[in-house]
Amino acid sequence: MDRKTNLMTWIDERLPVSSFIKNHLTQYYAPKNFNFLYFFGALAIVLFALQILTGIFLTMHYKPDALHAFASVEYIMRDVSFGWVIRYMHSTGASLFFVVIYMHMFRAIIYGSYKQPRELLWIFGVLIFLLLMAEAFFGYLLPWGQMSYWGAQVIVNLFATVPFIGPDLAEWVRGDYLVSDATLNRFFAFHVIALPLALAGLIFLHLAALHSVGSNNPDGIEIKQTKDKKTGIPLDGIPFHPYYTVKDLIGLTVFLIVFTAIIFFMPEVGGYFLEHNNFVPADPLVTPAHIAPVWYFTPFYSILRAVPPIFNSQFPGVAAMGAAVLILFVVPWLDKSKVKSIRYKGALYKKWLAAFVLSFLILGYLGTVPSNIWGQIPNFIPFLGGLDLATFVARIFTIVYFSFFVLMPFYSKKDKTKPVPKRVTY
Ligand code: HEM
Repeated sequence: MDRKTNLMTWIDERLPVSSFIKNHLTQYYAPKNFNFLYFFGALAIVLFALQILTGIFLTMHYKPDALHAFASVEYIMRDVSFGWVIRYMHSTGASLFFVVIYMHMFRAIIYGSYKQPRELLWIFGVLIFLLLMAEAFFGYLLPWGQMSYWGAQVIVNLFATVPFIGPDLAEWVRGDYLVSDATLNRFFAFHVIALPLALAGLIFLHLAALHSVGSNNPDGIEIKQTKDKKTGIPLDGIPFHPYYTVKDLIGLTVFLIVFTAIIFFMPEVGGYFLEHNNFVPADPLVTPAHIAPVWYFTPFYSILRAVPPIFNSQFPGVAAMGAAVLILFVVPWLDKSKVKSIRYKGALYKKWLAAFVLSFLILGYLGTVPSNIWGQIPNFIPFLGGLDLATFVARIFTIVYFSFFVLMPFYSKKDKTKPVPKRVTY
């Protein structure tokens, strides 16, 4: 035995590294028909690692103190060697993380990857999505700019709308009567340690669940059902390593081209990735004219604004916004279709999916602009006269958004599906 084998045997007797590599890489069989939409899971892992790494370096110079936070970020941008690259990597990484996650979720939806036996894998995914939104929200307060401050003020005040306990709850979340140094300190604690730790744990469980049931694929066929009689290897499977490790490198290359192009040529992306108002230090006495969250929250923010208050309470809007995310948990039980993948679903499902995607995009756009952008509906129109046109449109698409889920048990059952082949196709 040479030295390398000796060392490996020594390690394996104490920690089964070789069998782990075998079970999860070189002899983990993934369907051979993955397309580019399967890049996004691997990219999400890369982005998570990148956010942690750049976050560590930012923390070395950032000061979680209401008096110094804004200046410490400016210091990172102007004086720390390559501080600007690290900061832009982190801010661009945050936005691209959501692009990647939305594509990853969209893939799961169109190929029915949430359906049996992958319900738990999906549930871990939705939990990750929730925590990721919290992580981004906490992080956004840290630069202590006008948008950080007022965005946090608006969102924390949403807790105040909860019946009975609301105002106390909002105060408890803030740790003060208004967003202050105490709030900044706790958001920092959540952003740099509590949530990343929880996310790491959930990502581990997400991947453990994936490897226990195996990947779905664009055909929605279970490859484990057609195995080679002698070897027991799925006939439509190929070893994850080297085939998909190499294929994922192509996705990574394209991603890095986009990532670096943004960092070096347009890091603010016209105010979408870094909002203009956030280059102004937080001022509790000056409210910005238009407060909007970062683009990845705007579909949900639109739903919040679209739902009218009842008895002067904003709570219905807040509840609708929460429901818009929480409803994802039950999708595996709402979809009654006999087939998994969109390839074998009928026209009815495809129309509903198209309506859903459209509503998500339109709500996303409407959340970035003031609600009076298109003016008001003329007064002579009964019931609607005087209402902001954009709010009316947001209401329609909020209904479409929820209908996609709530009516799913009916249209997915009624939908005329096509026969699913036994083996995967190219
Ligand atoms: C940090 C966030 C996440 C990471 C690192 C991550 C990672 C991964 C990876 C590496 C895979 C296998 C490769 C692939 O299928 O693309 C995967 C599969 C999957 N993920 Fe995620 N994921 C994340 C978030 C989510 C979210 C938010 C959801 C849904 C709400 C989700 C749902 C799924 C599903 C259903 C699969 C199986 C897909 C299939 O086999 O067709 N994931 N994930």
